[in-house]
Amino acid sequence: MLLPDADATNALGVALARARPAKGVLHLYGDLGAGKSTLARALLRELGVTGAIRSPTYTLVERYPLSTGGEAWHLDLYRIADGGELEFLGLDSDEAALWLVEWPERGGGLLPPADLKIELAVAGDGRRAGVTPMTEAGQAWLRRMQTVRQQGVAADS
Ligand SMILES: Nc1ncnc2c1ncn2[C@@H]1O[C@H](COP(=O)(O)OP(=O)(O)O)[C@@H](O)[C@H]1O
Ligand SMILES: [Mg+2]
Repeated sequence: MLLPDADATNALGVALARARPAKGVLHLYGDLGAGKSTLARALLRELGVTGAIRSPTYTLVERYPLSTGGEAWHLDLYRIADGGELEFLGLDSDEAALWLVEWPERGGGLLPPADLKIELAVAGDGRRAGVTPMTEAGQAWLRRMQTVRQQGVAADS
């Protein structure tokens, strides 16, 4: 899909949040500046995160408790030396209701597998986004998202 401006990236994040399963894993692919953090931030805001949403570039992970239970984990593995560093973060995946992972290709196979793979790329002044379901949970997530987006259009008009 085409995301002509940052608002469109935010809207995709909102739809992903509204359609999310009780436990879900998102892998966010794309070069620096593609809009991965923009998407993650919009998603976290929609889930009710009100405080600062810091970039996990140096900490590798930022964790946010969710009002619905569990935590959302936002990871940015751009600066990770090797996937093994993930083990030292003491990530107990039982607490994670939602994984948002930037640069998942640097996780060295230690990440939980993606339900949805999102690929972002610069396209002119805007961005292009590809959303690929990787599991049955991901397929259901994508279907709910399409419904949510149609309802969004209806509610806005
Ligand atoms: N669809 C879009 N069209 C144009 N600019 C966008 C779009 N989505 C995000 N941006 C802008 O791209 C810039 C980089 O975004 P960011 O989310 O930090 O990228 P990344 O995390 O992939 O490095 C930000 O200034 C953001 O506002
Ligand atoms: Mg980023």
